[in-house]
Amino acid sequence: MPESYYENQRVLQEYLLFHYGEDAANMPWSVGPQSGLRFPQRCVSEGLDPRRLPNPSRALDLGCAVGRSTFELAGHCDEVIGIDFSHAFILTARTLCRERVLPFEYFECGEMMQSTEAKVPDVDCSRVSFEVGDAQNLRSDLGQFDVVLAANLLCRLPRPQLLLERLPTLVKPGGQLILTTPNTWLESFTGPDFWIGGRPSTGTTLEVLEERIGSSFERIKRADLPFSIREHARKFQWSVAEMSVWIRR
Ligand SMILES: C[S@@+](CC[C@H](N)C(=O)[O-])C[C@H]1O[C@@H](n2cnc3c(N)ncnc32)[C@H](O)[C@@H]1O
Repeated sequence: MPESYYENQRVLQEYLLFHYGEDAANMPWSVGPQSGLRFPQRCVSEGLDPRRLPNPSRALDLGCAVGRSTFELAGHCDEVIGIDFSHAFILTARTLCRERVLPFEYFECGEMMQSTEAKVPDVDCSRVSFEVGDAQNLRSDLGQFDVVLAANLLCRLPRPQLLLERLPTLVKPGGQLILTTPNTWLESFTGPDFWIGGRPSTGTTLEVLEERIGSSFERIKRADLPFSIREHARKFQWSVAEMSVWIRR
């Protein structure tokens, strides 16, 4: 299930809505949690400190899905690369980058669908590129970045430690690392021996992150970021990601 999960058409539609949908479509219930809206935008607005960016600057969005945070980063950085393991997500993100608008449908009830369109925010798309890649085995010529964002990626990797080991060479000294994770450690994605925390013997995910990357990165922020993903008009996944922001020593 895990590797093909994000290639599925239904999941693609859910992520297009999650990243580009109107608030009223993502959470049509006034009694529902509005706090979960616009998560990909908030990863950047709450995680990035633009005052720390050099000029020019490079950013990397790992596990970018259909690319909303990648475009948000392009509002601050001169070059942004979005990388995801899903061909379907990257094809869609590239289409958005080229066309800026993409019609899509999302689920109402059973087989009933609503039509809408995804629109790229007002940024210079020539700064943005998308590629398929594995965050656990990134190409060696990717270079270094002033910002690396990995939003809700860690607990979807079979071997998250491999990404943690690459981070010190990926982020420039003084650069910003923005991690968010709902800490949803599931055996179907990550064998328990490879979880980053979340077991009584290891401590919390944040504690284990401190142990594993703390010698290369200073943590400057921790925050709770709710997000909601609509499955259909009457069913939503509401979660709270833990954000940690780190500066490369
Ligand atoms: C939970 S989603 C988060 C997407 C996006 N960052 C967000 O916050 O909406 C996890 C993403 O990681 C991608 N992913 C899973 N395994 C990956 C890997 N080994 N390398 C890169 N991306 C991966 C999935 O395709 C999916 O887009």
